[in-house]
Amino acid sequence: MRYTDDIIEEVRMRNDIVDIVSQYVKLQKKGSSYFGLCPFHNEKSPSFSVNRDKQMYYCFGCGAGGDAYAFLMEYENYTFPEAVQHLAQQAGVELPVLEESREDRAKADYKSSLLGIQKQAAGYYHYQLKQECGAQAREYLAARGLTEETVHQFGLGFAEKSGGLYPYLKAKGYADELLRDSGLFQADERRGMYDKFWNRVIFPITDVQNRVIGFGGRVMGDGKPKYLNSPETKIFDKGRNLYGLSRARASRKQNIIICEGYMDVIAMHQAGFNNAVASLGTALTAGHASLLRRYTQEALLIYDSDEAGVKAAQRGIPLLRDAGIHVKVVDLSPYKDPDEFIKAQGAKVFQERLFQAENSFLFQVRQMQREYDLEDPQGKTDFYRAVAQRLLEFPEDLERNNYIEAIARQYQIPKEQLHKMVNSLALAGVGLQKRQEIRSPGKKKEDAESAKEKAQKLMLAWMVNQPGIFGQARAHLKPEDFTTPLYRKVAELLYEQQETEGAFTPVRVWNQFEDEREQKAVASLLNGDLPMGLHEGQGKAFTDTLLRILEDSLQEQRKNLKPEDIQGLQENINREMELKKLKAKFGSKLPNLPE
Ligand code: UTP
Ligand code: MN
Repeated sequence: MRYTDDIIEEVRMRNDIVDIVSQYVKLQKKGSSYFGLCPFHNEKSPSFSVNRDKQMYYCFGCGAGGDAYAFLMEYENYTFPEAVQHLAQQAGVELPVLEESREDRAKADYKSSLLGIQKQAAGYYHYQLKQECGAQAREYLAARGLTEETVHQFGLGFAEKSGGLYPYLKAKGYADELLRDSGLFQADERRGMYDKFWNRVIFPITDVQNRVIGFGGRVMGDGKPKYLNSPETKIFDKGRNLYGLSRARASRKQNIIICEGYMDVIAMHQAGFNNAVASLGTALTAGHASLLRRYTQEALLIYDSDEAGVKAAQRGIPLLRDAGIHVKVVDLSPYKDPDEFIKAQGAKVFQERLFQAENSFLFQVRQMQREYDLEDPQGKTDFYRAVAQRLLEFPEDLERNNYIEAIARQYQIPKEQLHKMVNSLALAGVGLQKRQEIRSPGKKKEDAESAKEKAQKLMLAWMVNQPGIFGQARAHLKPEDFTTPLYRKVAELLYEQQETEGAFTPVRVWNQFEDEREQKAVASLLNGDLPMGLHEGQGKAFTDTLLRILEDSLQEQRKNLKPEDIQGLQENINREMELKKLKAKFGSKLPNLPE
């Protein structure tokens, strides 16, 4: 599937990236750019910028950057054509009907066929639940306290004993190959294809857009396994979907409740806690965390009140925190899970427990404390030291002090002493590395750039970001003088745009790169994410850089000259002379680049 470049450009121009991003991120004008908290990494002060002139976004913290399409692809998980369609719709641009390539069509067809199968299956199971054969399942669900309305809302169903889904979908004309890929069937030589789910209550699992992507099936009673789940397929990624999220995201509550079970989610929704979600029979992942971060800033973790539940919470907390979500942990004891709790105590008492949710750091310290014997002076000291070390992970003084206070109160440690301990650990350098990691998240050490590359990158960044520099640079530099292939390509594009249109469109330069690493490097220079060190009237940095690039370029040229290339040699000599003159004019030998 491919829209022409003209259309892509037209749609981009008819939208304003500031408007688009504002729909997701709160932005504030600062100078010529807008700034907000980066949605792609965890941060407390805004380093995410959106620039109207450039029609680009760029995060000075993590280096994420691109145009409006890239933003939507990253944020909404759209494919490129989906992003084009979305923006076209926003701007009222009518898109042409696409001549799809056979391969693209097959791919799109394959996905939508798989979605079609899940939808048909959900309908089939739901229908069976209402039939004669579904009587036992209906009783089971009623006995578990679910109203008919809830059953309807969650589209619950029943897979009958005889397993009629396969013939049902066959009759609809689906090919065996596709049915096999749907994850709903099993096959063996003797029986051929047959239903995976039979004699089970069925829980359809939907994605955020409320499309059915898989199923969980529960035995009615004590059989094993208790739940069967669809395997992962092309449309069912367990690490990036959560049960109940399509409803929870629309709940407009200030947090999202994360629990373990399908039944827990349903019970909570029925009791009015329609912001509950659960993972899909697997552990919480970083993918879940960043998915959730789009919809909330606070998560309430409710895991079963047993050892496994505590472990699951311990694993989940850092994942959520890293995504920028505040985490609290809800204690349900003596009940096992939210479903049982609500059944026993009702919604009001449950709500109270939610209010009492424990700050996740304090939860972690409390769990840690169980490993130490506080009656023993040594054990007590070790515990304090361990706590002090954890406290170092808070990079901000204010926040760290608040926690020091809370912990001191809870464990009756004199506050000043805990403070002292934290400080002396800090001085000894413990935890310092960790703090630095927290300070500049996502900013991985790039491969060491050579001074040569640095100069080229800096020059290009000036040419794009500093008014007036382009003309000066062009008087001396040709695109070929940028010897690093990536920067040469950027230079070529910039020169060409300037020539044909008399202006730059940085976003169209960025757009010419497909490799992710290249895109990042280009976004960073287009947005001036460098120590720019160039102020008005300060020509030295500029001339130093210019001379260095020229020098490198001439050297490179000479290295590649063939002895028989007289003309090339002559040209090289001429430029060498020019360079000498320039140096004399600027009156300097070549000092190092400004850091
Ligand atoms: P639980 O064993 O806590 O069950 O599993 P539950 O959710 O409380 O279910 P009920 O109340 O007994 O009906 C929690 C989750 O773990 C996954 C399911 O996603 C379940 O909701 N699970 C559990 C499985 O995938 N397979 C199993 O056999 C058991
Ligand atoms: Mn349960």
